[in-house]
Amino acid sequence: MAIRLLGVCGSMRANSYSSRLATIALAEASKHGAETRLLELSAIDLPTYNPDNESMDHIGLRAATEAVNWADAFLLASPDYHGSMSGAMKNFLDFYWAEFAGKLFAYICASHEKGLTVMEQMRTSVRQCYGWSLPYGVSVYGEKDFDSSGQLVSHVDRRLRMLSRDLVVYGALIRGQFQADLAEGATETFAARYRT
Ligand SMILES: Cc1cc2nc3c(=O)[nH]c(=O)nc-3n(C[C@H](O)[C@H](O)[C@H](O)COP(=O)(O)O)c2cc1C
Repeated sequence: MAIRLLGVCGSMRANSYSSRLATIALAEASKHGAETRLLELSAIDLPTYNPDNESMDHIGLRAATEAVNWADAFLLASPDYHGSMSGAMKNFLDFYWAEFAGKLFAYICASHEKGLTVMEQMRTSVRQCYGWSLPYGVSVYGEKDFDSSGQLVSHVDRRLRMLSRDLVVYGALIRGQFQADLAEGATETFAARYRT
């Protein structure tokens, strides 16, 4: 079965570089057999997460939750804001936790530096929800790393293709094992605490 890969874009900006990077990465992942979807947070206008109102009835939130539950693996794409992920991305993550367990995440970032702290923060949030992370990410300095025809410079392009391939291959392994552990009902596994 094809792995279902959800890209989530945390920029509100039209023509966002992080979103462009995610689009390229998802196209590459589909060449490796993934079924892909893109969730642009700019398009769904999520409310601010409020733990007092978890039953929030909101069309964008319903769409996001449906996509999160569909996904076997995630590609999170954020701009670098003050060395952090965007508020929109953090707000999205706050709505979920158990949904992330046993799934692999990869991180990409639009930054004028290297976006390392941004990707590290996304990794920390995901780890807190028992999600797995690729050990490296890809960042783009949009104004420099896209040429005038919209092509990525080759060193970023190569790294992005490697990340897409690894996300599909390792994402399928981790998801497959997690689901097998759940089905088997073994008690001494990481998956056991998620069995209903
Ligand atoms: C509020 C704000 C804060 C930013 N902080 C940083 C920063 O700390 N480091 C950095 O390299 N770039 C910073 N930037 C630049 C953005 O990361 C850069 O423009 C990036 O391309 C935005 O991503 P996007 O094109 O996906 O929207 C900041 C931009 C804004 C609007």
